[in-house]
Amino acid sequence: MRHFINTQDWAVEELQALLDEAAGLKSRPLQPLLQGRTVALLFLNPSLRTRASFQIGAAQLGATAIVLEPGNGVWGIEFDSGKVMDGKAEEHIVEVAEVLSRYCDLIAMRAFPGFKNWQYDREDPLIKALARYSRVPVINMETIIHPCQELALVMTLQERLGRLKGKKLCLTWTWNPQPLSTAVANSVTMIATKYGMNVSLLCPSPDYVLDERFMKVAHENAASSGGRLAVTHEISEGYADADVVYANSWGSLPYYGDPEKEWELSRAYGRFIVDERKMAMTNNAVLSHCLPVRRNVEATDGVLDAPGCVAIDEAENRLHVQKALMLRLLGVAGR
Ligand code: CP
Repeated sequence: MRHFINTQDWAVEELQALLDEAAGLKSRPLQPLLQGRTVALLFLNPSLRTRASFQIGAAQLGATAIVLEPGNGVWGIEFDSGKVMDGKAEEHIVEVAEVLSRYCDLIAMRAFPGFKNWQYDREDPLIKALARYSRVPVINMETIIHPCQELALVMTLQERLGRLKGKKLCLTWTWNPQPLSTAVANSVTMIATKYGMNVSLLCPSPDYVLDERFMKVAHENAASSGGRLAVTHEISEGYADADVVYANSWGSLPYYGDPEKEWELSRAYGRFIVDERKMAMTNNAVLSHCLPVRRNVEATDGVLDAPGCVAIDEAENRLHVQKALMLRLLGVAGR
């Protein structure tokens, strides 16, 4: 049984086969290939795109998707083993996974990191616990990484740029009033290097460099794909000759769990906003963002509304890649 928890567990040829399948589904969206199948979508955190695209994608394939929000009409879940469950959680992931496996063909989960202890969160324990006890394939709908977003990003860039190897992607940190997860930054760095891109990780200071675990994976990806990964704190260096600018806000790991100190650190870096002046330094780059985006904080209206912005295409492609993924995990051939 195969799960989709981290794209690093999948060969680039396998990921590309998913993307090829997704392109077919994009041109022929309504095919009842999963008639009678059921998908459980466990959301521990809010969502617009992920929730809508999985529900609609399942419906377009003839499957039924149910949304479950633990703590909101559904019992709260304990994920740690051996815990004395005298707190808020009413049931354990052991029973949740076993029961849902009797009802459903797939279980997908979104479980953001807890913003208290990075040493705990960096092991991605919640999705691993679900996968351990599930009898059906598990899909990661964002934890400390966002693999479905990775698929949509690659599909979108291939649509616009063709072959990605050797193209420069500037992953730029942007300010946000909330310290956010590093999930999308981790994912963009891993998938772009896996596809042989030249990644410039632009962030204000060493405090914003990603966890060494993901940096190491990205360097290994680059070594085997012929790509590159370099960190810069110079805006002009990051943007220079970029073919792709990816804007994302993430928190500083040394300040993890301390939002007040993080605020003091980050408030000086509003200049990292993506704007017309910075985009003019690029090789006529496309701009993307996973969304939701704070307009005129992370990126200006001007660049978000420009023809080179592909964020909406990337959001659309979430639908197609996830349909291909559900078919693949259930062993159903498309087209
Ligand atoms: N990009 C993304 O996952 O969007 P949502 O948080 O709205 O699902």
